[in-house]
Amino acid sequence: MSKDKPTITMESLASLCKRRGFIFQSSEIYGGINGFWDYGPLGVELKRNIKESWWRAMVRDREDIVGLDASIIMHPRIWEASGHVQGFADPMVDCKKCKGRWRADQLPETKCPQGGPHEYTEARQFNLMFKTNVGPVEEASAVAYLRPETAQGIFAQFNNVLAVSRQKIPFGIAQIGKAFRNEINPRNYTFRSREFEQMELEFFVKPGTDAEWHEYWVKERMKWYQTIGLPEGHLHRYVYPKEELAHYASACVDVMYDFPFGTQELEGIAARGDYDLRRHQEFSGKSMEYFDDETKEKFLPHVVEPSAGVDRIALALLCEAYTEEWVPTAEAAGGEVLAAEPGKQPPQGYEPRVVMRFAPRIAPVKVAVFPLLKNKPELVAKSREVFEMLRKRWPAFWDQAGAIGRRYRRQDEIGTPYGITIDFDTLQDNTVTLRDRDTMKQVRVAIPELPSKLAETLG
Ligand code: GAP
Repeated sequence: MSKDKPTITMESLASLCKRRGFIFQSSEIYGGINGFWDYGPLGVELKRNIKESWWRAMVRDREDIVGLDASIIMHPRIWEASGHVQGFADPMVDCKKCKGRWRADQLPETKCPQGGPHEYTEARQFNLMFKTNVGPVEEASAVAYLRPETAQGIFAQFNNVLAVSRQKIPFGIAQIGKAFRNEINPRNYTFRSREFEQMELEFFVKPGTDAEWHEYWVKERMKWYQTIGLPEGHLHRYVYPKEELAHYASACVDVMYDFPFGTQELEGIAARGDYDLRRHQEFSGKSMEYFDDETKEKFLPHVVEPSAGVDRIALALLCEAYTEEWVPTAEAAGGEVLAAEPGKQPPQGYEPRVVMRFAPRIAPVKVAVFPLLKNKPELVAKSREVFEMLRKRWPAFWDQAGAIGRRYRRQDEIGTPYGITIDFDTLQDNTVTLRDRDTMKQVRVAIPELPSKLAETLG
């Protein structure tokens, strides 16, 4: 993690995510299942906001990209053509002592990852695709795979999409969807999971223009991360040296984020040449060529592929947002906010708060409405009016339980940018208290002006 943000522990983040309903262990009541996660009421909103923001930037706001939603299970020949049946494998060893199975290229040198002595078998290749059977008979002809990436659905539908969309090269096809990989060691919370979601763009270009489009997409994608609240200083590019590139690729850059467990990949942006279309042409016997009606040339388009993981971006946003601080007990009176010191108690007059500093456009809940007292029907009625007005436009939360300070803290913990309190003055002058999550500053705003005031940041 970079110096300007105190290191957080993944344990405290995971505990908040469970407590407040961002992320649960899958199948928890049966002891969980390694590498699978469920997103709770707030997690699902966070993921939707990420996907919507990506879809808007990549499809809706552009004229040169169209969408696709391909099936998860496709013809098994697709994965032969793509190279996944043959080559999508990690080297793996079994440890005869602890009975564990480990990735051969990630083993500590002296002892087994379980901590004891080791006795490893020879490394074997382990294919990461989940196999299943289509139809009732478990015979070889019915074997199919859960897709390990969404990209191949795009290549397989290249001709159909081109025909219906009347696009001309350069143009792209975008897709968001689930992908599955039987990872040997799922780890770092949701970072490496066995079921996850990808957001992939295949951008088809004229051969020879690969380098300029690759550079264009690296820049575009870096900018997008900043719009969702990952600051430039916590993002990095890893430029693949030639010897690390796949044989068909001419360039690849990973977008990396400073996670608490190290700087790791969020997205890969690769210039893949005509590899995928050529292979599908070869395996299917169907032409994948593009006819350029200006130059009257026929050619296989080259592709630039920005491929991002929704779950990794969600995890990066959660890490980025999570902040522990000490705030003055009487927050409305103002005063300096202190960074919490791990393991220590706050000084007198201060209390700890956990605040999720999500960018407003990505926050699961945008505004919370509180009647000052729940047993005053006129306050509750006025508050409901405000709540009903706001929730037509933004995800809003109603909370009438407990002291107002406790209610603010609950919203801070889930990252709600604004809190609105309706009190006795409201009944007189039709104004409310609007509290800002980050600064905790409170201002009076007239009810009719609330939507335009909130729209300044919420959009
Ligand atoms: N079509 C290219 C492709 O799939 P990749 O680098 O293997 O490339 C793209 O995957 C993105 O998908 C990664 O940058 C990451 O965000 C996400 N991803 C890959 N494996 C993942 C896993 N096991 N768990 C969570 N996300 C994963």
